[in-house]
Amino acid sequence: DLVMASTDLREKLKSIGQGHVLRFFDALESARRKSLLHQLQSLDLDSLAELADEYVKHKPTAALPKEIQPAKAYPHVPDESLREFYQQAQTKGRELLHEGKVAAFLVAGGQGTRLGYDGPKGEFPVTPIRNKPLFQVFAEQLRGHARDFGRVIPWYIMTSDVNDAPTRAFFERHHHFGYDSKDIFFFQQGMMPAFSLDGQLLLADKDSLALSPDGHGGSLRALHRSGALADMRKRGIEHLSYFQVDNPLVHCIDPVFLGLHALTGREMSSKTIPKAGALEKVGNFVIADGVLQVIEYSDLPESLAQQKNPDGSLKFNAGSIAIHALSMPFIERLNESGQLKLPWHRAEKKVAYVDQHGKAIKPDKPNAVKLEQFVFDAIPLARNAIVYTTDRAEEFSPVKNAEGADSPETCR
Ligand code: UTP
Repeated sequence: DLVMASTDLREKLKSIGQGHVLRFFDALESARRKSLLHQLQSLDLDSLAELADEYVKHKPTAALPKEIQPAKAYPHVPDESLREFYQQAQTKGRELLHEGKVAAFLVAGGQGTRLGYDGPKGEFPVTPIRNKPLFQVFAEQLRGHARDFGRVIPWYIMTSDVNDAPTRAFFERHHHFGYDSKDIFFFQQGMMPAFSLDGQLLLADKDSLALSPDGHGGSLRALHRSGALADMRKRGIEHLSYFQVDNPLVHCIDPVFLGLHALTGREMSSKTIPKAGALEKVGNFVIADGVLQVIEYSDLPESLAQQKNPDGSLKFNAGSIAIHALSMPFIERLNESGQLKLPWHRAEKKVAYVDQHGKAIKPDKPNAVKLEQFVFDAIPLARNAIVYTTDRAEEFSPVKNAEGADSPETCR
């Protein structure tokens, strides 16, 4: 079987110019052969060939939309005209929670290379006095809401091959932080191979491709593939409250936000905060050619980023903090209709590999392209989407870097 499978694969790989990944295959023992074949079989080789052309060999020049306007966001504190609506939103949000129609969705599959913590980032002891790990901070919030609303909040946690086993073990060791283990659903996201700058798949070892998680945008596909969506449907879940593992200030559950999202029939809603400065490294909510979307800080021309309103405030002031509400029918629709074609984002990184002689190389400058999808790229696919402003001091202080801005020190 191994021989058959490898013959077919060899042909296929040759035809897409990637024959070299089986270079060491014949000399490997059978378990190592199997594991390489398994990796290769889990990839969509045809689309990899296209991706290498489109995103790796040529740097895609994303044409900027012709017309970029600031996005309108619901304010944090409602004015007179919105006060009653916010009341209704709060009531609606509470109702949804009381009826058990909301699930928490944590994406924790990233590599956390910038923080450099030895283990899944969620294990990082973040609180200043009691040193609670990030996972515990979220678990305690969720259990508090469950107590208040008299309904457990099912918790879906996305990991990846780089941290799945240690994450599950950490939860086991901590008795799931008081959660009933049947109400936590772990699942893994997809992996993407790294390419050399000229589009060749890199081998991390003789029996293994250099793989990394396919970005938080991969979560929308992984929810479906893993059976998490089916589990949600069984439980009667209607909305997901999406958050990331690195921000301990996040309100994992926010009745007003969930209520605004649900009342207005939105498919995907997002929280925003006023930016700390024109060039802060967060995505920007904009209306581009008539469609709400996030433009990354690196893609927003500085001339626009610096524009001011007559009162001196920033014109493009709505920063993205990766907190979303997603409706189930939206995620289902994306997965059913083959519409789930989020763009790939290209990053040049240092990736260790074995060269054609089987020698391990640790590059000291970027030698590879990694491709990732971002969850906010689903916003323009939503039939309607809203943005709601929250307060930075109250809700956003991510732990991204070992030192300096957005580090454990600033967060604490
Ligand atoms: P980041 O964009 O900060 O990436 O992730 P990262 O991989 O964690 O960290 P660096 O860039 O290597 O330092 C933001 C959030 O998205 C999740 C992360 O776990 C974090 O909660 N994420 C990121 C995934 O779940 N999967 C991914 O493929 C990437």
